[in-house]
Amino acid sequence: MVLFELSRKETSPIDGQKPGTSGLRKKVVVFQQPNYLHNFVQSTFNALPSDKVKGATLVVSGDGRYFSKDAIQIIVKMAAANGVRRIWIGQNGLLSTPAVSCVIRERVGADGSKATGAFILTASHNPGGPHEDFGIKYNMENGGPAPEAITDKIYANTKTITEYFIAENLPDVDVSTIGVTNFSGPEGSFDVEVFDSASDYVKLMKSIFDFASIQELFASPNFTFCYDALHGVAGAYAKRIFVEELGANEISLLNCVPKEDFGGGHPDPNLTYAKELVMRMGLGKSNPQDEPPEFGAAADGDADRNMILGKRFFVTPSDSVAIIAANAAQAIPYFSTGLKGVARSMPTSAALDVVAKNLNLKFFEVPTGWKFFGNLMDAGLCSICGEESFGTGSDHIREKDGIWAVLAWLSILAYKNKDNFNGEKLVTVEDIVRQHWATYGRHYYTRYDYENVDAAGAKELMSYLINLQSSLPEVNKIIHGIRSDVLDVVHADEFEYKDPVDESVSKHQGIRYLFADGSRLVFRLSGTGSEGATIRLYIEQYEKDSSKTSKDSQEALAPLVQVALKLSKMEEFTGRSAPTVIT
Ligand code: G6P
Ligand code: ZN
Repeated sequence: MVLFELSRKETSPIDGQKPGTSGLRKKVVVFQQPNYLHNFVQSTFNALPSDKVKGATLVVSGDGRYFSKDAIQIIVKMAAANGVRRIWIGQNGLLSTPAVSCVIRERVGADGSKATGAFILTASHNPGGPHEDFGIKYNMENGGPAPEAITDKIYANTKTITEYFIAENLPDVDVSTIGVTNFSGPEGSFDVEVFDSASDYVKLMKSIFDFASIQELFASPNFTFCYDALHGVAGAYAKRIFVEELGANEISLLNCVPKEDFGGGHPDPNLTYAKELVMRMGLGKSNPQDEPPEFGAAADGDADRNMILGKRFFVTPSDSVAIIAANAAQAIPYFSTGLKGVARSMPTSAALDVVAKNLNLKFFEVPTGWKFFGNLMDAGLCSICGEESFGTGSDHIREKDGIWAVLAWLSILAYKNKDNFNGEKLVTVEDIVRQHWATYGRHYYTRYDYENVDAAGAKELMSYLINLQSSLPEVNKIIHGIRSDVLDVVHADEFEYKDPVDESVSKHQGIRYLFADGSRLVFRLSGTGSEGATIRLYIEQYEKDSSKTSKDSQEALAPLVQVALKLSKMEEFTGRSAPTVIT
């Protein structure tokens, strides 16, 4: 047994350690500054109740991005010195964000131990590498991100910190080899266990979905599949689940080897950044060499986001959650007794609302940010939820879950095709979506992102839009001056949310303009960027008439887009004549 000693180190506060929507995200060089990570980790330990540190079992892992390996060693040494009893690490330091949530909730150690929290090392969909982003966030005992009360405390601690504790002579842990290493320090034993990154998660997925029926889908001669992990951590799960468990061909996996820099790409699953998949699915500028697969999907760096595609067909995340909710009880065993309720974030389209109404389900509209769903789930009010930002999930864990979403879609395909497995023509992703529109109507939807614009200009644009809201007649005069074929705005506000569980109120959650026909324009500033400001403009129009649900969405939304850009004076405030990304 290796003996270690504790050292107390003096330090002083470092500016700018306020956790954002999903933890602290900064450039790697910022994290590499002396004491930067140490201060944040000690501030986190100091913000937790002492029984969640002393004697506790904590998980430390992430999406494997650059600096993760160094960060893991630092956190292990600090945990040892702070009296943590046990650290669990996914092999090679890899655990997807949903897998961390699963491990906290489900994993039981050989001696019956359970984890009470986790440091997740990721900056999600932001690029990685020596000149890109690193991130760290803390998740709690329910498997969800720390609530604001804790993150506020962490931040307050970073502003007053004077010391941290570290076991300097603790040898580096070999994270590549599965097994337990025992150490002994002044406060007793300290163990580090490296375990297989996928098994707990695979077990959970098998308890939710009917793997046998998905295997039949994969075995059917007309089904073809493609999964792009964008070199994020999803690759570690894709091989196990899609290939080994479900029988997909290994060549259907694209970019499934996790890389520290995501192969130089931007690991965000959307039509702009998942270029290779988009091309292969027949949605690129030129036609692919081979016939596109029937089903395609992608994940972000830490595998909590997803994009779902059919052959030459894009499923908007807003439609995706609505379609999963509409079919879950029939197609997914976990939901066979019905859904407790459903929820979406405010900027997500109202497609889910229509399903909730039809199926008589409890429905919630929350601000942007997965944490708002967690409270509803803990209170048993919500089973399935989703966001326009490519996040979909359920109450099986407390994070959104990219692979879960793919399995949900595969389950729906398997269910709809249960009589077509012998070579009959398959019901496709596109058929399922068009059928959904025919039943529930279609919410034409698009999002325009203006990334990394000047922060002052972005702020001015937002204030301008808020001021405009005080006079609807003035708004309508401007709008009709731009287009005569757009209806009146009947309500305009800033979205505000009162949590039905803890009654907390969240204000200023996005600027809304609501039109007489249910169309909406929403403007928000992104909470996840690490440089400048990103303006997001969400545009939505509802079409109930099933004969009008098959237009191209950019075409259908063109009048509203024109109104949005002129009304907000987008070019004037940002100097941008076109968005960075359109989804
Ligand atoms: C993260 C959160 C999501 C949220 C998204 C919004 O991914 O986990 O819940 O929807 O950020 O990002 P934004 O950049 O629009 O603030
Ligand atoms: Zn993510």
